Amino acid sequence: MKTLQVGLGSRSYGIRIGRGLLESGWSGLPENKRALIISDSNVDPLYGDRCQDALSALGWQVSREVVPAGENSKSIQCLAGLYERAVEAGLDRSSYIVALGGGVVGDLAGFLAASFLRGVRLIQVPTSLLALVDSSVGGKTGVNLPQGKNLVGSFYQPDLVLADLACLDTLPPREYVSGLAEVVKYGVIWDAAMFGRLEKERQALLDRDDDVLSAVVARSCEIKAEVVSVDERESGVRAILNFGHTLGHAIEAVAGYERWLHGEAVAAGADYALRLSVSQKGMAAAEAERVRALQAQLGLPRMTHPDIAGLPWDALRRAMGTDKKTVAGTPRFVLAEKLGAVNFGCEVSEEDLERAFREG
Ligand SMILES: NC(=O)c1ccc[n+]([C@@H]2O[C@H](COP(=O)([O-])OP(=O)(O)OC[C@H]3O[C@@H](n4cnc5c(N)ncnc54)[C@H](O)[C@@H]3O)[C@@H](O)[C@H]2O)c1
Repeated sequence: MKTLQVGLGSRSYGIRIGRGLLESGWSGLPENKRALIISDSNVDPLYGDRCQDALSALGWQVSREVVPAGENSKSIQCLAGLYERAVEAGLDRSSYIVALGGGVVGDLAGFLAASFLRGVRLIQVPTSLLALVDSSVGGKTGVNLPQGKNLVGSFYQPDLVLADLACLDTLPPREYVSGLAEVVKYGVIWDAAMFGRLEKERQALLDRDDDVLSAVVARSCEIKAEVVSVDERESGVRAILNFGHTLGHAIEAVAGYERWLHGEAVAAGADYALRLSVSQKGMAAAEAERVRALQAQLGLPRMTHPDIAGLPWDALRRAMGTDKKTVAGTPRFVLAEKLGAVNFGCEVSEEDLERAFREG
């Protein structure tokens, strides 16, 4: 097991990464607590019992609640039901919410923990690749409104992130590849050497080779932890984690959330950000092409995919205007000068935005 630390003063916490942690990774927790495990209808049948058994072995009184798998569960309605369950389970402020699942469960259960009784303890147990390398670390929690994604939420750090790599064995291939988009992102925004390793080890990564995967998950978490430690609430450098997300979120919204998975949309958004990086920041076209090539080899879509290039520009531009990182209707981009070196808060003229979409 490898342990990383997210350094946030009194709110610091560990990320434990390894295989089999659902059974053996819980050491150091207090005894005789109450917990409510929240999971989804895909993950609970696979891992719910193991998680419950491990916590019961600590003398904990454990209840479980299962929400339907999918983004629709990240809703106020679903959250309202979970508050009822938390009351029924007799949770007090020293009790734990355990978020067992992908990013949907992590965000939903995380916000439940942040808001129930003005805050109870939280353990994130990520089971999708996206959740392991991204959403379980950093404390963003929340739910969607019909008007948009993640419009209600808070920053709320967990006590512990337990990242059991064995959970990835059952993750469907498309979900796995979608998570790889965020891994590539860390290479682009922070660590050119990691990017080079991803290029070399891409087949092993696709094969879910144990050693390669655990190194990649650990390095991704390390980068996220480092960024979050210096800017917990995204007033500055944390914005670089949004590389590819400005157009990515717009693609998700305009194409409909069913069409593209988050990482797929982010990969196409990264393709767009690379076009802008070349035209605005002088990034070498060959370096931008390396990123596109790696994404494509991993099975991620390019911007030229007909279901993306064919989306109406006006609708995408409007959607970018409602992004949370937009200032007064002007979207701000994360753009690269070269691999591993990016700028955030970049403004681009309307003309250049449209040209990059249409012409590349
Ligand atoms: N909080 C953050 O910082 C942050 C960052 C990025 C994304 N997000 C959010 O994360 C969500 C997307 O997360 P996601 O991609 O994990 O989606 P998800 O939670 O819907 O999981 C994807 C699918 O995989 C299934 N699954 C998860 N783990 C599995 C496993 N081990 N075996 C088999 N099936 C498994 C789930 O049931 C689901 O069907 C979005 O709501 C997004 O807004 C949050």
